Amino acid sequence: MKILLLGSGGREHALADALSRENTSVELLAAPGNPGIAELARLVSVKAEDPAAVVALAEQEQVDLVVVGPEAPLAAGVVDALQVARIPAFGPTMGAATVETSKADTKALMMANGIPTAHAETHRVAKDAKDAVRARFGAPVVIKASGLAAGKGVIVCMTEKEAFDAIDRILDDRVFGEAGAECLVESFMTGEELSLFAVTDGYDVLPMIGAQDHKRLLDGDEGPNTGGMGAYTPVSFSTPALIDDVTERVFLPTLHALRKRGTPFTGLLYAGLMLTPDGPKVVEFNCRFGDPETQAILPMLTSSLLDPMLAVARGARIGSMSGFTWRAGASVTTVVASAGYPDAPRTGMPIHLPSLSDTVRVFHAGTKRTGSDLLTSGGRVFAVTAMADTFAAAQSASRDAAARIEFDGAQYRRDIGWREAARVG
Ligand code: GLY
Repeated sequence: MKILLLGSGGREHALADALSRENTSVELLAAPGNPGIAELARLVSVKAEDPAAVVALAEQEQVDLVVVGPEAPLAAGVVDALQVARIPAFGPTMGAATVETSKADTKALMMANGIPTAHAETHRVAKDAKDAVRARFGAPVVIKASGLAAGKGVIVCMTEKEAFDAIDRILDDRVFGEAGAECLVESFMTGEELSLFAVTDGYDVLPMIGAQDHKRLLDGDEGPNTGGMGAYTPVSFSTPALIDDVTERVFLPTLHALRKRGTPFTGLLYAGLMLTPDGPKVVEFNCRFGDPETQAILPMLTSSLLDPMLAVARGARIGSMSGFTWRAGASVTTVVASAGYPDAPRTGMPIHLPSLSDTVRVFHAGTKRTGSDLLTSGGRVFAVTAMADTFAAAQSASRDAAARIEFDGAQYRRDIGWREAARVG
């Protein structure tokens, strides 16, 4: 089985790691990959957002499956082009990827189909958005750029003044470019967040275990928002009953609405949920695996990832397949980031990687090789995942392993999973 994996981050390293553990013999190619993925795959060069180039590479290499990691190639229509060329691809088409690329369309779809989510209005004119805040929402309120904004387009505003500033920055200053052509004014929700992933053929779902990520840079959820400083799984309140409830009230009706709209979704549907006093509500959907939750979840998987992926990519139904199975215990991922991250990461620092126990995985996210040297090349450099029989043991093993990775200016959080630690003691 020859697989081409698109992407270069920690999420893709975790996908490569999971695919390498399959019973089926897998020959893995990765484009562009990274030095960690290079230990599991042959790296090939292609512009992942160029559908024609990806098709040409897949044809030349005669791959059996293309797995698309990040959202940008999905938004560019890579899966559409692979489908035309009859090459099995795991990931949604450009039209279905709008679950992530257009928060405005997706909010309208959810509200029209009774899928639980916060009430919102979409505006293109700053004055209208501000009037909505003043007259109908008040503060706190959430202001969102509709399009892809590298995880920075959601602004929680505690006062009306903060909301007006956010609206100006999105709609008038266009700090997120065209992603800010529309902005959502959305009711503020209270509760705990949960990331729930499901592999889907467009009709049925195979949900994964729940995870929580940590978007703020500093301990105690302080400091600026980042791409994610860590994650853990399982989350004790993410019970099978809750996952069934989310399947019935969120995943299945969303898939039904997407089919009805003519954009059936296949691949990995990521529901970012808020567990509100009124039950789970959708904060956002993503059209791909989450980062860094994937780095916590996939090492815990004891059943095949490839079988359902391949079935979905070949257009088969997964309703009769067995659900995923998981290792007992817990997994905690600590991200090690560069100095200056997230605003101005300092890169090019030599890295010393210690040898670590085999219950720890070090996923590369922002590294590069220059000769025999391993150097930092991005904001988030590694995602360090530790698995253990208890949450507390996984948390301390992840933190200790992160502390042993050396490069100038390395920063990481020491409290990943603090809410779970408070729950499970
Ligand atoms: N962990 C958030 C995301 O992947 O978008």
